[in-house]
Amino acid sequence: MKRLLGEDEIRKKVGRLAGQISRDFAGREVLLVGILKGAFVFMADLARKMTLPVKMDFVRLASYGGGTVSSGKVRFTKDLEISVRGRDVLIVEDIIDTGITLKYLWRRLKSRRPRSLKTVTLLDKPSRRKVPFRADYVGFAIEDHFVVGYGLDCNEKFRNLPGIYVLK
Ligand code: IMP
Ligand code: MG
Repeated sequence: MKRLLGEDEIRKKVGRLAGQISRDFAGREVLLVGILKGAFVFMADLARKMTLPVKMDFVRLASYGGGTVSSGKVRFTKDLEISVRGRDVLIVEDIIDTGITLKYLWRRLKSRRPRSLKTVTLLDKPSRRKVPFRADYVGFAIEDHFVVGYGLDCNEKFRNLPGIYVLK
């Protein structure tokens, strides 16, 4: 495994994202919607650097076919417990790959009439897109590598690594 992003680099970036988000949403309460499981580490760090009133909820999505290949069909295996209606909602994702997962969730949540709906992702692999999707806030754009650590896994391993590594 080769280290791509170290702890300090990630901490600085998360701090900057939290600052930017806090300024953009100034005076509002934000509902953070984390996509399980990968986003839980990023969301925990991001939320603690935000200077706004925050509520948090999680969804879990499954793509048919599973594994590392998105088949294009997504479904909820765990839905939200807090209503998004009328709220300022920020979807928190670990990484955007094909774009299929976020596009699906964005559409589904949009139809529930939030006041606003934005997305933040720590990592983005723009070269892998199968459907067009641009997050409002992006931590790092990276090359087409499979990465683990800081919440991201390979067969449920490596989520607890404090840095981000390229799996060989
Ligand atoms: P998408 O629907 O293809 O954008 O899928 C994004 C999801 O695939 C992410 O939420 C991750 O769970 C997973 N994923 C994509 N790329 C990687 C990677 O490099 N490492 C670990 N998980 C990944
Ligand atoms: Mg994920």
